[in-house]
Amino acid sequence: MRILVTGGAGFIGSTFVRRRLAATQDTIVVLDKLTYAGNPANLADLDPGRVRLVRGDIADGPLVDELAREVDAIVNFAAESHVDRSILDPDAFLRTGVLGVHRLLEAARTERDRRGTGSRYRFVQVSTDEVYGPVPEGRSREDDPIRPSSPYSAAKAAGEHLVRAWHETWGLDACITRGANTYGPRQHPEKLIPLFITNAILDAPLPLYGDGMQRRDWLHVDDHADAVGVVLDRGVSGLAYNVSGDGEERPNRAVTEAILAQLGKPWSLVRSVPDRPGHDRRYALDGSRLRALGWEARVPFAAGLAATVDWYRENAAWWQAVRSGDWDDYYRRQYGWRLEGSAPA
Ligand code: NAD
Ligand code: DAU
Repeated sequence: MRILVTGGAGFIGSTFVRRRLAATQDTIVVLDKLTYAGNPANLADLDPGRVRLVRGDIADGPLVDELAREVDAIVNFAAESHVDRSILDPDAFLRTGVLGVHRLLEAARTERDRRGTGSRYRFVQVSTDEVYGPVPEGRSREDDPIRPSSPYSAAKAAGEHLVRAWHETWGLDACITRGANTYGPRQHPEKLIPLFITNAILDAPLPLYGDGMQRRDWLHVDDHADAVGVVLDRGVSGLAYNVSGDGEERPNRAVTEAILAQLGKPWSLVRSVPDRPGHDRRYALDGSRLRALGWEARVPFAAGLAATVDWYRENAAWWQAVRSGDWDDYYRRQYGWRLEGSAPA
């Protein structure tokens, strides 16, 4: 297959590209805007004969139309992905999540029509469990209502609505994945696990929001990437698929303890800071629909976290480069006042 992978220089997208090249004969065009989160280093070791990186925006209609002609499928990972940044500045979330998804869908529809009826042209929208909003009990199933809480998750929900509309109205062959909280190598250090690993390595404070009892179902990035591949290959058009973690929910406090234990650092680094507004207390997914396609999470959290901590220990040059540029500015805006008013956790 020839695939256009948008956002393929980011954390999950680059893992998808790496694993897809290893497991198939596919060739891949990556379209990535290379925002602060996109990193060509994530693709640097891959075979240039099978993967090509194009720097550009998914909201650029002519560019997207041109690239859509080269491929048989589009997998859209491109998004602004950090909830806290969406609270500081939502604009880019909506531009990419709504206008960008619209351009991609139009490109896919136009190319499918150009090739004629009967041609297979698949679109996979990589979405998130955050579209369900907080789940006080039980597990979200794909047909549950969606009630996003943050500008980030609202933009992701809007993207899903567009995908569904293009499927219903024009019969576009499209699926949606809703992944759980993902962790692993090459994740931007703005997110909880890599932030706490890298801060702890630096003996800097770990800013734990509120009481730290928010619960997440953690999913290793290799498992997430493989799930997207299974949906691309075997998903039923028109359906969404939850991608759950290992099924065990963990409060942020427990994740923090595990990171500190592995690094041999003290709990006194952890600071209780004012909470994220609109913070979803708990997510939990029912993953049975995707398991019926033959996928299951393979990486247990303890082993995955240990390997992730080791990766950050061994790849300090990678994350030091990422924690530069506008990082200090962002860090001050997000954490300056929070840490000033912080207390022991
Ligand atoms: P990331 O921030 O690491 O990567 C996003 C990539 O998209 C970056 O390379 C960035 O440069 C690129 N990008 C942003 N705007 C673009 C635009 N307008 N045009 C082209 N490229 C653009 O994010 P991630 O964690 O790898 O997430 C990838 C996808 O998976 C996102 O759609 C996200 O919503 C979804 N998701 C993430 C998680 C998670 O826990 N990280 C869980 C579920 C779903
Ligand atoms: O659930 C899927 C989502 O997971 C994805 O759609 C998002 O792209 C991804 O960023 C992630 O969202 P979260 O908001 O859950 O991830 P984050 O790493 O930002 O936060 C995880 C938990 O840790 C959450 O409860 C907030 C808390 N947290 C986070 C940070 C950055 C803290 O307590 N302190 C922090 O400094």
